[in-house]
Amino acid sequence: MLEGKRLLLIISGGIAAYKCLDLIRRLRERGVHVRCALTRAGESFVTPLSLATVSGEKVFRDLFSLTDESEIGHIRLAREPDLVLVAPATANILAKMAAGIADDLATAVLLATDRPVMAAPAMNGRMWEHPATQANVARLAGRGVHLIGPEEGEMAEADEWGTGRMTEPADILAVIETFFAGAGRLHGRRAIVTSGPTYEAIDPVRYIANRSSGKQGHAIAGALARLGAETTLVSGPTHLPDPVGVRVVNVEEARDMLSACKTALPADVAVLAAAVADWRVAKPAKHKIKKDAAAGAPVLKLIENPDILASLSTATAGRPALVVGFAAETGTVVERAKRKRLAKGCDWIVANDVSSGVFGAETNTVHLVTAAGVEDWPPMTKSAVAQRLADRIADALEGVPATPTS
Ligand SMILES: Cc1cc2nc3c(=O)[nH]c(=O)nc-3n(C[C@H](O)[C@H](O)[C@H](O)COP(=O)(O)O)c2cc1C
Repeated sequence: MLEGKRLLLIISGGIAAYKCLDLIRRLRERGVHVRCALTRAGESFVTPLSLATVSGEKVFRDLFSLTDESEIGHIRLAREPDLVLVAPATANILAKMAAGIADDLATAVLLATDRPVMAAPAMNGRMWEHPATQANVARLAGRGVHLIGPEEGEMAEADEWGTGRMTEPADILAVIETFFAGAGRLHGRRAIVTSGPTYEAIDPVRYIANRSSGKQGHAIAGALARLGAETTLVSGPTHLPDPVGVRVVNVEEARDMLSACKTALPADVAVLAAAVADWRVAKPAKHKIKKDAAAGAPVLKLIENPDILASLSTATAGRPALVVGFAAETGTVVERAKRKRLAKGCDWIVANDVSSGVFGAETNTVHLVTAAGVEDWPPMTKSAVAQRLADRIADALEGVPATPTS
């Protein structure tokens, strides 16, 4: 499965750098062609000679090397591999990646690459838990960087325990194998994903909205694209970066979201994760509504918005083979989701309890409701939920003829 794959391993300056020798050996045993790029700090932990010996390749270190630049160049180094892996990934290199800094060979390559990127963080537990590092990894995950670990355990510093150990080479290898096994499973498929809230105008400056951050929907679009689906993300207003490899259509109101979804048809799968406003103001004011003590507070008449999930699920022409809805519920979450699946005519519902702290959070606890029953998934990060859902979608579409595009 890994035979003939090309991997660029970027080694930054952490104590776990010695483990990458074992990782390279395991990768080469499976026929992977490994090239190494080493940061200046990385050289203090593992020697270029050891890396060159184990990888059987020249090791790249200097952005301004005339010979390296004329022979291969940092752009080719960035574009040639099937996968770029940063292991160990220091707090420093994660921060630079998140900020788009390119002040050495490793970070210039990371900014220039259009290949999938994985990172295995390794650092002291306090560094890992620091809000700056957490914000950086959240940003990277949002952009489609696949994070492996870190694990909990004993730290390099005597008597310290925490989360920050680099995932063991055998486990990193397993993640890489799973990645390559899945890559391309949705090749030739088209996907539509909706994400974020909708904004429904009250007047030119005010609107009705909800607390959806769009994190889950964006992660799903990224995961489907990583499996090879040609993915359109129809997104309400969010503060998130566009997921890598996804065509993004930005909308504000529910009616625009529906029409963007219809324009994106035909598709094999639609995942409708947006928190679409159920109602909009019947007649939004053309001018800003002024405070008027005599008239009192304005009374807003609300009317129902179109139901995007029901509309795509019951479309007579061009219905996607698989329509997946989301149910953000409080109370009897699963029972409500079961009823919603039947009422809307969709195939699956991903149900989550939003009574406490899901909006904007990095983790989610969901139940997958299908005709076959209910699966309770354990709590996991939103990117892990996205990956698992994308894998399930790929399983479900196996053997189903691809939707013709014209
Ligand atoms: C002995 C020693 C061990 C270190 N281990 C780590 C580590 O495990 N993780 C980390 O993020 N930084 C670690 N650092 C700090 C990094 O080496 C430092 O932030 C450096 O600037 C990283 O540069 P780079 O990201 O370009 O490789 C360590 C420093 C020393 C002196």
